[in-house]
Amino acid sequence: MQQLYVIGWPIGHSKSPIIHNHWIKKYGLDANYAQKAIAPQDIAKFISGLTPQNCWGFNITIPHKQAVFANINNRQNLAKILGATNTISWQDNQLYASNTDGYGFNTNLSELSDWSAVDQPVIIYGAGGAARAILQSMQDAGAKHLYIYNRTTARAEKLLADLKIEANILNNKAELQACLATAGLFINTTSLGMNGETELDIDLSAMPKTGIVSDIVYTPLQTGLLKQAELQGLVSVDGLGMLLHQAAKAFEIWFGILPKVDQQLRDLVLNDS
Ligand code: ATR
Repeated sequence: MQQLYVIGWPIGHSKSPIIHNHWIKKYGLDANYAQKAIAPQDIAKFISGLTPQNCWGFNITIPHKQAVFANINNRQNLAKILGATNTISWQDNQLYASNTDGYGFNTNLSELSDWSAVDQPVIIYGAGGAARAILQSMQDAGAKHLYIYNRTTARAEKLLADLKIEANILNNKAELQACLATAGLFINTTSLGMNGETELDIDLSAMPKTGIVSDIVYTPLQTGLLKQAELQGLVSVDGLGMLLHQAAKAFEIWFGILPKVDQQLRDLVLNDS
């Protein structure tokens, strides 16, 4: 049997086992996907003990995406650019680090909206790990006018320098609001709006009516940001699809099958508490 994991610290209640075990069953594979708590100091030990027999592959969640990347020498180019990995597989009997987060974001966005790399500005809110993958995926998709806002501007500057992306920095809330007036797409890449967190503080009324608002948060599915977007008549794209599509790409890496992300799976994940 092929054994797979998602590792994190704490691992909490990850949705990944439900998603992958659903597809494993659907495609009749002899495999199992479980979650595993690995403390930061145990990462190197965990990795050195792996064989294709005891682990066919694994996903990485917070806070290990960079630490695992640092421990694996064979890397997909995109993972190299991002300096982070969320999916590990075997290639020629060696561990191989990939990153499917940006794919997940873009695929979901294209499915739930008619976004294509338009000429209008794209605003990315946040400068953490998720922002990295999303900014890179927007650039790869051909977005021409990229803007980034972060509470800590220096972190946004570092992100652009690391990725070597020529995006514009919005230095404060006033610049952010002014930029919204011409924006085609606004993306929240932070955890603001998640259950138990404060809401993202922004006024979307200035955004053009053709604007799209996207949130990576999916608990709740409809964040305060997305509620506001709907009230303004804007297209809103929730965060669940990013999770499902990054998982689909990982599944393809491990099993050679790109599974369909459908409503049945969305309901399965949404009903899991
Ligand atoms: P992840 O890897 O999930 O992206 P992260 O690297 O810790 O997580 O990044 C979190 C992001 O959320 C950052 O952009 C952070 O802003 P700072 O760089 O200023 O810390 C942002 N963030 C978290 N809490 C916030 C808050 N209360 N207000 C505004 N931004 C916040």
